[in-house]
Amino acid sequence: MLSRALLPLRAFLGFTFCFAGLQKLANPGFFQASNPGSIQAQLAGSVRRSPIHPLISPLTHVAVLLGLVIAIAELAIGLGTLLGLWQRLAAVGGVALSLMLFLTVSFHSSPYYTGADIVFVFAWTPLLLAGAGPLLSADAMIEARARTPRGGRPSKRLSPEEASRREVVLKGTATAVAAVAGLVLGGVVAGLGRLAGGTKNSSVTAPLPEAQANSTLSSSPAQSASAPKVSPSASGSSGSGGGHPAGTAIGAAKDVPVGGAASFTAPGTGDPSIVIHATAGKFVAFDAVCPHAGCTVQYDQSQALIVCPCHGSQFNAATGAVEVGPAATGLTAIKVTEGNDGQLYAT
Ligand code: FES
Repeated sequence: MLSRALLPLRAFLGFTFCFAGLQKLANPGFFQASNPGSIQAQLAGSVRRSPIHPLISPLTHVAVLLGLVIAIAELAIGLGTLLGLWQRLAAVGGVALSLMLFLTVSFHSSPYYTGADIVFVFAWTPLLLAGAGPLLSADAMIEARARTPRGGRPSKRLSPEEASRREVVLKGTATAVAAVAGLVLGGVVAGLGRLAGGTKNSSVTAPLPEAQANSTLSSSPAQSASAPKVSPSASGSSGSGGGHPAGTAIGAAKDVPVGGAASFTAPGTGDPSIVIHATAGKFVAFDAVCPHAGCTVQYDQSQALIVCPCHGSQFNAATGAVEVGPAATGLTAIKVTEGNDGQLYAT
């Protein structure tokens, strides 16, 4: 009965974790630092806000590897749950991953129940405590098969040691088959994702040389694909003779089209940020870390709004004020000024 009752939960968690892992693998932007939705941008947002930020800071140096590990772990946990294979272990992984996402991404969700990760932590606990049970479960099938007497004859009943040896072999084989199937599936989805959307972020530009600027301005994926690129040769050096506003050069003003936006890294905080070219010659910029739960917001040119992809908050593109919650406060403004040299300077 319990096993039957757990089936809908297993199906939902298994499918959701498989989908989450495959979605990350299929999306090249998840691994590109200049993309506002990337693992790097999410880590940067968490570094300041998470209660475990001292543990997160070192991970920013291995963000791509971490993103890959998370995607593969999600796929493995999802497949294990759908198959009922190593179910308790998969549930431990599900709790650990959901808890980590809660502490890094959705810790500041307000009210707390609007963040999904804390709900996932508790959704995994029935499977952690009870396992998958006998119904549609590879664990149960393997256990039953391992105890089956040779040739099905009761006289050939196996000793407990033999049965447990058989169970180890059968489970090892099933695990190897599932792992190969998962890797092939992940590889195919990643390849298809790059074929379908590999050029989607081609508007991302080469970084400005370190000696000239410590921030990088790049076209926002929320803009049209025809958005022009920032010229890598743009100079952001201070003291260039003619003088320029205080602050750090983040890129050439001409590379942010009127009505469009671009992303850059805030010089002071290292947070992902966006600059919007509202009307000719008038720029506004905001820290792109959503005040609700730390996702990276994006500029939606068609609506002239800043939107959060996680829970749908919307912000005024001129002031950063909240238009639609659940975010309770607006975005932090960053002062951006265009210098005589054509560069944008952020303070
Ligand atoms: Fe929840 Fe932005 S993180 S609305």
